[in-house]
Amino acid sequence: MAKVAVYPGSFDPMTLGHLDILTRASKLFDRVIMAVAQQSSGKRPLFTIEERLRLIRDNVTHLPNVSVEAFSGLTVAFAQSHQASVIIRGLRAVSDFEYEFKMYQMNMHLNPEIETVFMMAGPEYHFLSSSMVKEVALLGGDVTGLVPPSIGESLAKTSSQMLSTPQKDT
Ligand code: COA
Repeated sequence: MAKVAVYPGSFDPMTLGHLDILTRASKLFDRVIMAVAQQSSGKRPLFTIEERLRLIRDNVTHLPNVSVEAFSGLTVAFAQSHQASVIIRGLRAVSDFEYEFKMYQMNMHLNPEIETVFMMAGPEYHFLSSSMVKEVALLGGDVTGLVPPSIGESLAKTSSQMLSTPQKDT
């Protein structure tokens, strides 16, 4: 039976660190579904779900066993409905461990049939996060080497649109 894995996240936007984990995971499993969370607790995404899906899909066309889908609700429910028995999570630094361990335990409690597989992020990506990339782009910094070129272009465009739109005082 085909081994299907789900790689969940908000991917706002997908970075080269995510792509590294995805590429390596695609060699371990028959199929990998990148599950893009419509909402992630406490986060207000910069890109809409449609934009995030498009930006990812444009950059994974070279990985034939990878598909990209939006999801809402529980990750384990999404995995089960797609016949996936594995959740992939990337670990960057020791600081990720506590949060990941809690999430692993909750997912295990919710569905013990679905195993979480942790993969270490490539050493060049240990410091990387989507928020940091967004902050650099919004402040006019260079995100080359942090995100795929087309995502860098979208970040630059979205950042300049935001800077030219007057912000309301709160
Ligand atoms: N390279 C680069 N960055 C990485 C990375 C890697 N390999 N791995 C993680 N990151 C970054 C992400 O970009 C993200 O950055 P940000 O906080 O700046 O946006 C950060 O690390 C945290 O990533 P992650 O833990 O994947 O959070 P997320 O918001 O992207 O996704 C979900 C969290 C969607 C997986 C989680 O909320 C979820 O499962 N939700 C569904 C509800 C559910 O099932 N709840 C019960 C389980 S607790």
